[in-house]
Amino acid sequence: MALQIKSIEDYHKAYQKSIENPSKFWDEIAKDFYWKKKWDQTLSYDWSVPETKWFVGGKLNITENCLDRHLATKGNQTAIIWEPNDPKVKAKHITYRQLYSKVCAFANVLKNNGVVKGDRVCIYMPMIIELPIAALACARIGAIHSIVFAGFSSRALAARINDSKCKVLLTSDGGLRGDKIIPLKDIADNALKTCPSIKKSIIFKRTRQTVEWIKGRDLWWHEELAKVDDSCPAEVMDSEDILFILYTSGSTGKPKGMVHTCGGYMVYSTYSFLNVFQYRPNDIYWCTADIGWITGHSFIVYGPLTTGATTVMFEGIPSYPDFGRFWEICEKHKVTQFYTAPTAIRALAKHPLSFVTSHDLSCLKILGTVGEPINEEAWHWYNINIGKNKCPIVDTWWQTETGGIMISSLAGITKDKPTFATLPLPGIQPVLLNGDGIEITEIKAEGILAIKQPWPSLARTIYGDNKRYKNVYFSAYPGYYFPGDGALRDSKGNYRITGRVDDVIIVSGHNLGTAPIENAINEHEDIVESAVVGFPHDIKGNALHAYVMTYDGIIQNDKLIGEIRNLVTKTIGAIARPDKIQFVKGLPKTRSGKIMRRILRKIASGDTENLGDTSTLLNPEIVDDLQKGFAKGR
Ligand code: WT7
Repeated sequence: MALQIKSIEDYHKAYQKSIENPSKFWDEIAKDFYWKKKWDQTLSYDWSVPETKWFVGGKLNITENCLDRHLATKGNQTAIIWEPNDPKVKAKHITYRQLYSKVCAFANVLKNNGVVKGDRVCIYMPMIIELPIAALACARIGAIHSIVFAGFSSRALAARINDSKCKVLLTSDGGLRGDKIIPLKDIADNALKTCPSIKKSIIFKRTRQTVEWIKGRDLWWHEELAKVDDSCPAEVMDSEDILFILYTSGSTGKPKGMVHTCGGYMVYSTYSFLNVFQYRPNDIYWCTADIGWITGHSFIVYGPLTTGATTVMFEGIPSYPDFGRFWEICEKHKVTQFYTAPTAIRALAKHPLSFVTSHDLSCLKILGTVGEPINEEAWHWYNINIGKNKCPIVDTWWQTETGGIMISSLAGITKDKPTFATLPLPGIQPVLLNGDGIEITEIKAEGILAIKQPWPSLARTIYGDNKRYKNVYFSAYPGYYFPGDGALRDSKGNYRITGRVDDVIIVSGHNLGTAPIENAINEHEDIVESAVVGFPHDIKGNALHAYVMTYDGIIQNDKLIGEIRNLVTKTIGAIARPDKIQFVKGLPKTRSGKIMRRILRKIASGDTENLGDTSTLLNPEIVDDLQKGFAKGR
């Protein structure tokens, strides 16, 4: 593809051009895709509204880029290698032609069930082939998919379905995770009790346990498929039509439905895939993320398929049947690019090296990480034991909101540097701001990370709430996109992400807002108030510490701790369960009533010496109490 950068000179040239003349630069990149009609204007934006449009007036369907376009040349090439949870079961290899046929057939199932362009379809499924098929089938007919990670609880699912008023829910009877069966339909049924917008639920049979059935609403996937053929023309979509909604947590209780559009998302997710991972024909690319997160959307489904790559999709977990599973899969499918999260690396590094050395990893060419800062130790473990000191490691910084990778080395082309995401991709202009929102001009500096110009896959809004979109991303530092991270820059311009500067905590690579967790805890009838902060954890990166104040001043109660954990699991999901719960007599507050989280964070991380200035506290005496409570252990 013409859009692939092949040398360091190419990179500098492309970067320069992308900054000097973004329209011209992206015009040329976008030409490499299949459009039904060319755009009239490359970019139009006004971040004070905020509003951003790319490839204005262009018409396309992303599935024609992912599927139809490859049929003539790659019809018999494997598009997806699906590796099942149980290693004794054979992997499936789905060719581009087969995938095309399956997508068109399922698109017809959706049509038969009343789904039309613009409708929202919620997908709550395990990591089985039908998940990307369902997503692509939505895209085929112009329906908007909203994939909800299958680890979320009933209530979290219901909140997401209701926010975007989904018409249809796609799920399965159950999902397999190691030796466990997750009863997805039961969880979904529970959610649907409070989701009046859902008219139909189509259920794929995966685990075959008995499930409850609501006549008129529930339909079996295979029975619906038996009624259709596999020919389905692609709906003509406008560049700026919505392709999907994906929820991410924010600093209020309500999840933010990030809106991605057809044209810009396609162009940039693919551009970043191709360049960061330097995909070449015959490579076998594996991203271990779940398709329920943006990483899976962009780097299992859309980026690789648009490129015509072979992408691996894994149903199971890294520890089943043992801690060598990832490496066994790499060896078995001869994976060339392997992309995972630092938390997985740290967890696997805790186990005997024999889980790694018993597999032949000579197939690997390029390694990647995503989701949180990677610490030096994990980086070296990955480099030495998995990459055998010969694979470039791309540390990719980006977000649900950015759609594609923003800052990263390009494998083998620009240099990597341990713990640094390094340089921006062409088209991306990061800056560091000081506390007053002024750009720091010195190269070597530390500050708040912000992005100066729009790029094609910026999420266009928060579904149904452009005001909140403006507030969260464009208000603190007018004229910039504000991602919520801090960063430092070395003398060569490499960026290192230092962590969140807002109330979001990254736990095991999952983005969790403190507010939704606190809201869940506060629902307990014995609890007045709570505050959740992160503290460093050697596997998860960060773990959660909840400070909880009860009505009757309880200071220790195991039953209540269990109830709080269950409440969080029920409201959000197990990923948000606090690791530590400390009962307190009160929370440190400023005179304006704001909880001083800085102090809570210090105490939770065991740093009781340097609490900083506590003079603005309304109740400074509480600090001593918090420290004593911490020291006692929880
Ligand atoms: C937040 C976005 C899109 C990736 C999956 C997570 C953190 C992401 C890195 C990295 C340091 C990183 C940031 C970011 N993050 N990648 N390479 N180094 N931090 O997507 O759930 O939207 O979370 O993840 O804090 O803002 P997300």
